[in-house]
Amino acid sequence: MPTTICFINQKGGCGKSSSCFHLGGHFARSGRSVLLVDADPQGSLSQGFFGSAAIEGLPAGESLAAVFDDAPPLTTLVVSTPFPGLSMVRANAALGRHNCPEPETFGLKQFALAALLEEATGYDLVLIDCPPNLYQCSWNALLAADFVVVPVPPEDFATQGLRAIHQAVEHARHLNPRLALLGHLVIRADSRLLVHRSYEQHLRRLYGEAVLSTVIPEASAYKLALSTRTPVSFHSPSSRAARLVRDLGDELLRRAAPPAERRKIA
Ligand SMILES: Nc1ncnc2c1ncn2[C@@H]1O[C@H](COP(=O)(O)OP(=O)(O)OP(=O)(O)O)[C@@H](O)[C@H]1O
Ligand SMILES: [Mg+2]
Repeated sequence: MPTTICFINQKGGCGKSSSCFHLGGHFARSGRSVLLVDADPQGSLSQGFFGSAAIEGLPAGESLAAVFDDAPPLTTLVVSTPFPGLSMVRANAALGRHNCPEPETFGLKQFALAALLEEATGYDLVLIDCPPNLYQCSWNALLAADFVVVPVPPEDFATQGLRAIHQAVEHARHLNPRLALLGHLVIRADSRLLVHRSYEQHLRRLYGEAVLSTVIPEASAYKLALSTRTPVSFHSPSSRAARLVRDLGDELLRRAAPPAERRKIA
């Protein structure tokens, strides 16, 4: 079975979709078979690969919304991206009506994504991009995933919601006992800003090992690559931005590996 990681934070614009986009590209370029799941009605990750017109016009039955209406086989929802080894399940606004704020009242639909991903046996990695809230789509992701990554820009508004995420992860573990926090990812960091450096230190003091060592800076290379619908590892493989995504991918795999495997990877 693949390693399934969801990217979650209630804060908008903190780099969840960007992390999935560039990490997905890195993992695929390094020879892994990767499935990206867009679980956000905004459809940002889908638009990142296919453009806004194609995603706005996507029929609900070909998007993740279909899993809440009936139980289609995974293969009917998966499409290839232009990048070898990188496939995805797309989403758009049709997912919005399923993203209700009280997910636990949703009975079996809480497990709709988990049920879909039981068929994802041919992949090494599944990365799930969540919307900026802890409603039905994020809850489904928490019940389907093995691991959670929380992208956090080192600023006050971004760090305020972390307690609610920890509570949601703890809560989800009652229904999905294998779920574990892989780490907080300091992202969009500007080392020239004292306030960013201070918040990063604050996060590391507060959460210790639960903060990933790799930091993803605010860098135009990520935006530029996205604007060409190309993950940075394909767009500019020898750039610092691509190297940091590779470091991040390595760190995530190290942390996700079972203890015996961890020694081999190190
Ligand atoms: N490290 C980075 N450096 C520069 N720009 C970035 C970086 N990470 C993300 N961005 C840009 O910031 C914007 C918001 O990022 P992104 O869409 O990934 O956030 P998000 O958390 O998925 O947002 P939402 O909560 O709305 O889904 C995008 O334009 C993205 O290209
Ligand atoms: Mg997003």
